[in-house]
Amino acid sequence: MRLLVTGGAGFIGANFVHSTVREHPEDSVTVLDAFTYAGRRESLADVEDAITVVKGDISDAALVAALVAESDAVVHFAAETHVDNSLEDPWTTLQTNVVGTFAILQAVRRHDVRLHHVSTDEVYGDLELDEPSRFTESTPYNPSSPYSATKAASDLLVRAWVRSYGVRATISNCSNNYGPYQHVEKFIPRQITNVLTGRRPKLYGSGANVRDWIHVDDHNSAVRRILEKGENGRTYLIAAEGERDNLTVMRAILQALGHDPDDFDHVTDRAGHDLRYAIDPTSLYNELGWAPKHANFEEGLRATIDWYRANESWWRPLKDATEGRYEERGQ
Ligand code: NAD
Ligand code: DAU
Repeated sequence: MRLLVTGGAGFIGANFVHSTVREHPEDSVTVLDAFTYAGRRESLADVEDAITVVKGDISDAALVAALVAESDAVVHFAAETHVDNSLEDPWTTLQTNVVGTFAILQAVRRHDVRLHHVSTDEVYGDLELDEPSRFTESTPYNPSSPYSATKAASDLLVRAWVRSYGVRATISNCSNNYGPYQHVEKFIPRQITNVLTGRRPKLYGSGANVRDWIHVDDHNSAVRRILEKGENGRTYLIAAEGERDNLTVMRAILQALGHDPDDFDHVTDRAGHDLRYAIDPTSLYNELGWAPKHANFEEGLRATIDWYRANESWWRPLKDATEGRYEERGQ
């Protein structure tokens, strides 16, 4: 397959490119990435000789059309992905997530190319802590933040292009990812690198908020399975039964790094902070025979901590500026 991977220099996209080069050497991979603050050439250094990298914006319709015309499938990861940034700068988030996805859709429509659109469980809003139900494919969309609202909008555009124009597309909505190459603005790498740089970790509010953690390699193996075996027009929910509250994850990180588990600061909570995400991945398990390989979260967390210890040169250049931005917000 000739694959066009948008956002392939970001966290999940770069891990997807690595696993594709490793496991599918018969594929050719072209990365289209704008190299925003979140995209890094260093994340593709190990595979750069095996792939083609194009620097460009997914909203650039002419560029996107030219690249799509030479592809058999597009795996669309590119997005503005951080909720806190979307609260501060909703316009950039809207432009990339909505207008950018529109440009991708127009190009795959024109050239009849298969699309897999990567999305998030945040489109479903949040759940109560003690609610027995989890998100399913039929849960109504109820996004809370500019980020999740724009991802919801992009999902709906994909559904409309499937129905109205017969575009061959699938959508996946995944829970919170962790693993190597994740930007230090995100919860888990922020706390690990705070400890490694002598800063105190920072917990929003009381830490009661629950996220449903999945290792990035498991997310990507599910994306590959959907790309190969998914039914056009379908939405698949990806998760690994990994619900944990933030306080528990914070303490696990501190303990794994040999620190007192209560050695952190409570900081200003996020505006509109979603309380709990939880996904029911049964149909992906049953229909596509997929299962996660990294089922033990604590083990995956330790391996992730080891990666950040061993790869300081990757994250060190990002750290001070990221913390500077958080300091301005009182977080
Ligand atoms: P990331 O922020 O680490 O990377 C995003 C990448 O997109 C970067 O390389 C960036 O340079 C690129 N990009 C941004 N704007 C662009 C533009 N206009 N044109 C071209 N490239 C652009 O994000 P991530 O965490 O790897 O997320 C990837 C996808 O997965 C997103 O669509 C996100 O919504 C989805 N997702 C993420 C998670 C998670 O936990 N991180 C969970 C579920 C779904
Ligand atoms: O659910 C999938 C989503 O997961 C993806 O769609 C998003 O792109 C991705 O960023 C992630 O969103 P979250 O907002 O859940 O992730 P984040 O890492 O920003 O925060 C995780 C939780 O930790 C959240 O409840 C906020 C809290 N938090 C975050 C930071 C950065 C803290 O307590 N302290 C922090 O310093």
